[in-house]
Amino acid sequence: MASMVNTLGSRFSQTQSTSISTQKQQQTRVCKVRFGVRAEAINPEIRKTEPKVVDSVVITELSKPLTAYCRCWRSGTFPLCDGSHVKHNKANGDNVGPLLLKK
Ligand code: FES
Repeated sequence: MASMVNTLGSRFSQTQSTSISTQKQQQTRVCKVRFGVRAEAINPEIRKTEPKVVDSVVITELSKPLTAYCRCWRSGTFPLCDGSHVKHNKANGDNVGPLLLKK
């Protein structure tokens, strides 16, 4: 049985790892059946070479009194909202919108 170290530095066995993977697969199947949702990437093309897209904002340093940040992953000015969520919502029957930060 192989021993592995996860991102938190905890050791776990290969058997446990496989079990967790199997549980996630089962949960995904349940979600697909229950909600009719396809498992696919949320982010279609933004900064795909990065392992994780993370942005930080110091609210006191915002230049405008109100700044809209994208939550639909379709903005051409990501992480800022450019209104692309409107087109996405119309095309997909979705209801996503920006996060508004007020200074
Ligand atoms: S463009 Fe993504 S929330 Fe507005």
